[in-house]
Amino acid sequence: MSLIKLLELPSLCDSRGGMVALESNRNVPFDIKRAYYIFNTSRGVSRGYHAHKELKQLAICLSGTCRFILDDGNKRESVLLDSPFEGLFIESFMWREMHEFSSDCVLLVLASEYYDESDYIRSYEQFIEFKK
Ligand code: TYD
Repeated sequence: MSLIKLLELPSLCDSRGGMVALESNRNVPFDIKRAYYIFNTSRGVSRGYHAHKELKQLAICLSGTCRFILDDGNKRESVLLDSPFEGLFIESFMWREMHEFSSDCVLLVLASEYYDESDYIRSYEQFIEFKK
C-alpha cells in the first residue's frame, strides 16, 4: 500500500473565485487542534526530517508547490503537492521531509495535537529503532 494518502478537498469555487472548507472528522480525518503555515521558504531549503509518535497531520499546498518525502522505515515515497484541492494525510510514525519549495509556496498544516516537542522523533536512527 502506498504511503502517499492524498485526500480530495471538495471545491466550493464559483464565478467569484476559489474556496475550500476544512472540517474536523469530516474531510479532515481527525480533530484539528492546531494549524500552522510555512511560507517565504528560502531558496534550496529543505524542512522536516522528523516523525511524530502521536501526531497526525494534513498538509495542503495553498499556493505554489513543494515535494514531500514520506518514509515508514521500510519504504520511501515522494509526492509533489501542487493543489489547494488535495491534502496529504500523514499518519503517526511517518518520517517526513519537505523539499523543492517554490518561492510562492504557502503550505498549510493541520495537526491533531497541540505542539509538543516530546512527540517528535528528530533522529532517523532513533525512528528506525522505534519502528522495530
Ligand atoms: P519544526 O516542526 O522543526 O519545523 P519543520 O518540520 O517544518 O522543519 O518547527 C520549527 C520550530 O518551530 C521548532 O523550534 C518548533 C517550533 N514550533 C512551534 O513552536 N509550534 C509549532 O506548532 C510548530 C510546528 C513548530
